[in-house]
Amino acid sequence: NNLEWTKAILLTAQENNSPVILGVSEGAGKYMCGYKTIVGMVEGMLEELNITVPVALHLDHGSFEGAKETIAAGFSSVMFDGSHLPFEENLKLAKDVVEKAHAKGISVECEVGSIGGEEDGIIGNGELADIEECKQMVATGIDYLACGIGNIHGQYPENWKGLAFDHLQAIADAVGPDMPLVLHGGSGIPQDQIEKAISMGISKVNVNTEFQLSFAAATRKYIEAGKDKEGKGFDPRKLLAPGKAAIVEDAKSHIDWFGSANKA
Ligand code: 13P
Repeated sequence: NNLEWTKAILLTAQENNSPVILGVSEGAGKYMCGYKTIVGMVEGMLEELNITVPVALHLDHGSFEGAKETIAAGFSSVMFDGSHLPFEENLKLAKDVVEKAHAKGISVECEVGSIGGEEDGIIGNGELADIEECKQMVATGIDYLACGIGNIHGQYPENWKGLAFDHLQAIADAVGPDMPLVLHGGSGIPQDQIEKAISMGISKVNVNTEFQLSFAAATRKYIEAGKDKEGKGFDPRKLLAPGKAAIVEDAKSHIDWFGSANKA
């Protein structure tokens, strides 16, 4: 989302010897003045903060155009999300993205069965991915597959039924153990469900809303305590520091849950 988050997450990954994927949506890309700005910022941080753990810079829920732009800008991984398109078109464009990305050593994630909730203005219904479509999508040569298993973006409603583990098992069986599966909407899923999903083949968990809420809560606390009015407390470097500290704490706990500490 911004410089503070990127720095917080990179430093926490390094401290915990964990590989990490920095996910950038197209909306966040526009907010940060475009993909080239982001590549420059991340490359600068890797060098200046002495980050040695593996770091992927990944486009999240990209359009076909967004995938092409991030491939050209120097991202190391792209998601092409054609889940809202007719399946044949999703498949055709996915093949094209794989060809363009693999020519440059860039990995590709694609989605089958839209993930519910709202992401950058796109609303999905939380479908269960069709097994046959998952198999066909994997045959395009993608490197990881995002598949709907009852997960949704944003906060989970009170009446959410939980992840559909039987469906996850059926997908994992259909695509085989060599295809990493991606769990979107990682915020607010109970820890035991995340751990079970990881044990069944989920290899990448996307988390955004939870970090946003932590950042906002820490910033609110700082302002409500009147700290911005004490001395130079209004300096953005001070104003944004509690939010950054909250991200560090959250990133540390997620690295522990997801089991990626000491795997760099
Ligand atoms: P949350 O915002 O629900 O954590 O979802 C993040 C995500 O899946 C981004 O693709």
